[in-house]
This record gives sequence, structure tokens and C-alpha cells, in this order.
Amino acid sequence: MGLTDRFTDPGEDALAADFMANGYVVRDVDDRAALDAFRHEIVRLACEHLKCDPPADDGAFLNGIHERVTVAEINALRLHVFNGLNKHSWCRPTYLSLARKAIDALVGNELAMQNRVNLSIQMPNDETSTLAVHADVWSAETPYEVVEWTPLVDVYDTKAMYILRPEINRTVRERMSTLKDGGKEFDLFEAYRNEFHWIPVKYGQTLVFSPILLHGNVRNDTAESRWSVNCRLTGLFTPYASDEKCLGRFYTPITPKMTSRIGMNFKAPEGFNG
Ligand SMILES: [Fe+2]
Repeated sequence: MGLTDRFTDPGEDALAADFMANGYVVRDVDDRAALDAFRHEIVRLACEHLKCDPPADDGAFLNGIHERVTVAEINALRLHVFNGLNKHSWCRPTYLSLARKAIDALVGNELAMQNRVNLSIQMPNDETSTLAVHADVWSAETPYEVVEWTPLVDVYDTKAMYILRPEINRTVRERMSTLKDGGKEFDLFEAYRNEFHWIPVKYGQTLVFSPILLHGNVRNDTAESRWSVNCRLTGLFTPYASDEKCLGRFYTPITPKMTSRIGMNFKAPEGFNG
């Protein structure tokens, strides 16, 4: 490459423009074999909990979990799989590797990552597993983060999650600040019901979104169960919004560069005025 007047990569700029316009990007995972292996371990842990034989088809097994488990039993299964998955030293590195290119482009290459990879399961007609409309910054998470959200089965319609596009989201703050009773009677979901965008994501793809935007899910009215994993990532040297959700407690530094390590450990000489 010869002389250039660009500091940035055109491919990364295009991804950033897409993210800015929609609040999210959906891309094929960077390593499909890694996703398959990741999902296979989730299925193995589920079978361990259910004391059943491994299925021939991991995707069909997950899609049909409601045929084996009741709503009352699903959280015990979820916790068994979540705990088993997060015990593996490969869990977070492999999870990041699925979206590394997009994360590098959108967040940076010196990263802090949430301490656990979360697992969600929404079975058809299960009212107890819905996630009401919210923005993560409302629960003291940093506005500098993204969520890497990966379905383990195809998601679509009410099996998917929804998000409020940035241009509509910009109206939320103003609208909420003028509510007469401080918002006690305000139904945020109802107010924006027609504006939410359900994001279809196929197995083999990952969704990276800004949790500053309103998002959530509703009752899964499809005939299949939804399984998804998610984890938050932020630039290592960004402000953290609370003591609870700070570096060390909620996020771990994962990719500090050598110059940063040297800088963090540097101590200026004392008693020297030159
Ligand atoms: Fe969220």
C-alpha cells in the first residue's frame, strides 16, 4: 500500500455506518466450526441434566426442548447448562472468536468482557421468560458496551428479540422526561409497539447490538423453542458507570496490549524535579 489519506479501514467504516443506522449488525460468525462445537457442548450439558441420550440433530433437539421439559423445569436446566458452559476455559475466548471481526471494528482491540456468557431459553407460550422492554444503561451498565447475541437455532417473528431503531429511540428521553406522574402509568412497550423491529437471525449468524437502544422480547408464539447466548463487551479504557458493573466485578480485561500494560505499571520517579 502506498500513500493514504485514510486512518480507517473502508470495510470497518461500512460496518460502523450500518451499526449507526440500525443500532445493530447481523453477520455470519467468523468461525462456524467453533459455533457448532460450542452448541454441541450446550446440547451435551442439557442431555446430562435430562439424563437422555445425545440427539442426532442438535438444532432439532434445542428447537423441540419444550416437548421434554415443562415451564417449571426449564430454569433448572438453564442453570445446569449455564454453569457447565462457563466452567470451560474456552467458553469466553471461543464466544468472542465468533464475532471478533465485528467487535474489533465496533469496539476496539483492547477489550473488557463480561465475566459470564449468559444463556436464555424461551419456550413457546412461556410467559415467565419474557424480557420487558428496557435499555441496559438503565441498570447501571456502561453506555460504551455492545452485546454479542448469538442464537443457537434460527430465530424469527416472536422467537426473535426486538429493538427500537436509533432514530425512534432518540425520542424516548424527551418523551419520558415530560410524563406527568414520573412515568408510573406509562406503558413503554405500548407506546412504541408499532416501532419495534424484530430481528431475524439464522443459526450460523451473530447479532451485535447497542443495548442503549430499547429492546426486549415478548411471549414466543412460534412452535419452536428459542435458545440464545449473549455477552457484553466494552473498550478496556472506557468509563464504567457504576461500582457494581465495573472492571473486575462485572467485566474482565481480556486483550490489553503490551504498551498499555507498561503504562499501567509505570511509576514516576519520586524526588526528581528535572
Ligand atoms: Fe438487555
